[in-house]
Amino acid sequence: AVVIHRKMKKSGKWVKAMEIVKEFEESCRTPISKLKQVADAMTVEMHAGLASEGGSKLKMLITYVDSLPTGDEKGLFYALDLGGTNFRVLRVLLGGKDGGILKQQFKEVSIPPNKMTGSSAALFDYIAAELAKFVAQEEDDFKPTSGRPRELGFTFSFPVMQTSIASGTLLRWTKGFSIDETVGQDVVAELTKALERQGLEMRVSALVNDTVGTLAGGKYANNDVVVSVILGTGSNAAYVERAQAIPKWHGLLPKSGEMVINMEWGNFRSSHLPLTEYDQALDAESLNPGEQIYEKVISGMYLGEIFRRVLCRMAKEAFFGDIIPPKLKEPFILGTPVMSAMHHDTSPDLKVVANNLKDILEISNTSLKMRKVIVQLCDIVATRGARLSAAGLLGILKKMGRDTIKEGEKQKTVIAMDGGLYEHYEEYRNSLENCLKELLGEEVFKTIKIEHSNDGSGIGAALLAASHSQYLEDES
Ligand code: GLC
Repeated sequence: AVVIHRKMKKSGKWVKAMEIVKEFEESCRTPISKLKQVADAMTVEMHAGLASEGGSKLKMLITYVDSLPTGDEKGLFYALDLGGTNFRVLRVLLGGKDGGILKQQFKEVSIPPNKMTGSSAALFDYIAAELAKFVAQEEDDFKPTSGRPRELGFTFSFPVMQTSIASGTLLRWTKGFSIDETVGQDVVAELTKALERQGLEMRVSALVNDTVGTLAGGKYANNDVVVSVILGTGSNAAYVERAQAIPKWHGLLPKSGEMVINMEWGNFRSSHLPLTEYDQALDAESLNPGEQIYEKVISGMYLGEIFRRVLCRMAKEAFFGDIIPPKLKEPFILGTPVMSAMHHDTSPDLKVVANNLKDILEISNTSLKMRKVIVQLCDIVATRGARLSAAGLLGILKKMGRDTIKEGEKQKTVIAMDGGLYEHYEEYRNSLENCLKELLGEEVFKTIKIEHSNDGSGIGAALLAASHSQYLEDES
């Protein structure tokens, strides 16, 4: 009798566990009809954001980049790329027409978490010091020939209201950064002051978002690039808009007739987004409640955390009763890379899942059945994110009129993509691409190409620093 009783109790737990999974799966569903609504909402918000300042949750920021690299860029340029858990410094020697990138070097440095929420000076001093060290290691064949200061492209991947190509104020932090005093400040001035404190003479010639850098770097490699998307810690997109289609732009019409727009799509939200109780709790407890809702369901910073929250509820209500494994209660303990590793576990007994549960969450002795459920949860979270980002992309293509084939036109649309999530999470990447194909249909999909632009944002910033060099006019 005892045995039967225990079995029943156990199967009762399974019933509960399966209920939780089913309910979660149901609320994460992204059928094509829903994705099309999301895409349409994205297009509508794009129009609204371009119409007037504050017209939409989508900021549709004017970047002051009205022409992308041509290949004529020449000389030594530096770039500093700040925006995730790491930042990069790099230098490139550009060869001008037909020369291309002659030489490049970079260094990646991780940002101590306390710098992300401390003071403005501490953060900027830290990156300026790393940059100074990097500059000090410059080899002779990089050395500039003229006596003028070195120039820098500053990739700063947060929402910034630009006032020119080389200045702009921070609207707010995202992605786990939170330093109140920086908001409203000109980030180029902040960086320049920090560079001066290091005794480093350098001029910021271009301030760009990582999406804009990626667009510039992508265009340099492939002339058909017109859109860029970052899927990393955060997520965002930029694209080339017709200047005349930007009612809120009151400046001169650029010669090119074009303007790159930094959408800040991470802040998109719509009643069509399938949000769950877990997303709501995550948002409420985040550093920026109510903001970056789209980012919180599609990007790398959050996928692992959503997954942890579902697992936590299962642990409480189905698997472990009252004692939830303490590690599982720690927010952000399960990063998306770990989730991805578990999701891609192909060993028959799901060894990778077992090991990660043991090493990170100190949960051992899991049954194969339980590990299978865990993989299923990863799949639900990643698939929803990937499909929703495909829908966002469709929204942009629609706005650009590139979601259909015009008769007699041989149009090619290349999307430059970057970010760790896109690069390393294969299931996510595949699911995004398959979904986009499904949304566009085979024929149109053939005219679209997604190109991985490996660290295009740094190179792109250097290229934009070159084409916006403060010294170009002096020379001519
Ligand atoms: C966040 C930032 C945005 C950036 C994106 C990708 O959404 O607000 O500026 O482009 O992350 O790094």
